[in-house]
Amino acid sequence: MFIRSIHLENFRNYGRLDLDVGPSVNIFYGNNAQGKTNLVEGIYVASSIASHRTSKDQDLIRFGENEYKTSLDLTDDDGSNVQLSSCFYTEKSALSKNGRTGRMLIVDNAPADKISDYIGICNIVIFAPEDLNIVKNAPAYRRKFLNTLISKISPSYFNLLSNYSRLLAQKNALLKSIKNVENVSDAYNDQLDFWDFSLAELSAEIILKRFRFSKLISDIASRHHGSISGGKENLSIEYNTIFGVVGALETFLTKNSKYDDYMGKGLSEGDYGRIKGIISDLVLAKLKSVRNYDIDKHISSIGIHRDDIIIKLDDLEMKKFSSQGQQRTAALALKLSELEIIKMFVSSTPILILDDVFSELDKTRRMSLVSAMKDAQIFITCTDKNMIGEEIDIMEGADKAEFYRVDGGNITKEA
Ligand SMILES: Nc1ncnc2c1ncn2[C@@H]1O[C@H](COP(=O)(O)OP(=O)(O)O)[C@@H](O)[C@H]1O
Ligand SMILES: [Mg+2]
Repeated sequence: MFIRSIHLENFRNYGRLDLDVGPSVNIFYGNNAQGKTNLVEGIYVASSIASHRTSKDQDLIRFGENEYKTSLDLTDDDGSNVQLSSCFYTEKSALSKNGRTGRMLIVDNAPADKISDYIGICNIVIFAPEDLNIVKNAPAYRRKFLNTLISKISPSYFNLLSNYSRLLAQKNALLKSIKNVENVSDAYNDQLDFWDFSLAELSAEIILKRFRFSKLISDIASRHHGSISGGKENLSIEYNTIFGVVGALETFLTKNSKYDDYMGKGLSEGDYGRIKGIISDLVLAKLKSVRNYDIDKHISSIGIHRDDIIIKLDDLEMKKFSSQGQQRTAALALKLSELEIIKMFVSSTPILILDDVFSELDKTRRMSLVSAMKDAQIFITCTDKNMIGEEIDIMEGADKAEFYRVDGGNITKEA
């Protein structure tokens, strides 16, 4: 898939942008703080709704305005065209009918009711300095990495996550409202029973996806890491969820010789139902066992909202023990695995964004990045267009590279 044109309105420092781009390599250069990252963030948000930099949609609206709009004109690998348009507005916007913030998503002039109907259409993988957060920062960054990847492949996973978040928020609100811990009314306990049951069901499905994709990421990232670093150290990642769950899942898969099915073509309906039942029972028991504690503390202390993936280099947790250079290599390997996995599962070629990444990588890493990018439309940002000559030279389609100068929210294409 490739983008033919990009349209932004009141997005970051862009008042209005209408830009035609080339189907292969597009290079945006300019001084700092001119809007290079804002542009690629706009492209990413236009396809994926979420930003790679912020979780607050408000931040994306141009200062002083009340809504942003993004739109992409795309052509798929089979030559068919599609248009994706999205808009986010605050409660002050004229678009807000009920005094609340909101979003509108449009695919080819028809409204998309659900985010999941929108986000799978155009897949973009972005490489940015923020990727380092996946390795060195809080679990939320790793969950976001995992969730983004799985949602791109399986939009229904996105729905599971939204349902889970909604139920959890309701449960947390109830936990906060219970004043008397000693004497919780039957009505409250019934309500909590219901939510725990529903949360456990959703958790089982989410866990089954997360465990599988963690394994896949581990295998593929480890291979990329080996080729970037010369194979001296071994990268691995481990899915970390509610205590005992991974053990039960692994036991089920090995005892019934279902590992290959689970990793490959998928479990049969019967097997899926059985393992889902085992996991949801386990999660439900755990939730019940901490109920009094959670009521007392007004929190949900256990659950897949606390999941993590542990990234290890030769069995040492990288977050705690690795150097910045090692963390950068691991982050790159993880992102390359994201790209490879999307290619495995999605038929149309993903679009790539490299936001200011070359300056931070040494030559070997730059080259492994570039060699992973065959056939794709690529957007590159940099401060000095002469600094990336060598990389551009080995890129496919580089002879057709287009250059654009970014200056204070204006973009000029080089003739
Ligand atoms: N919501 C916003 N509205 C207007 N300007 C913004 C907004 N968010 C960021 N900016 C401005 O965008 C500039 C940074 O742009 P960015 O694309 O990150 O720069 P770079 O070209 O270095 O990648 C800063 O000057 C910042 O003030
Ligand atoms: Mg930038």
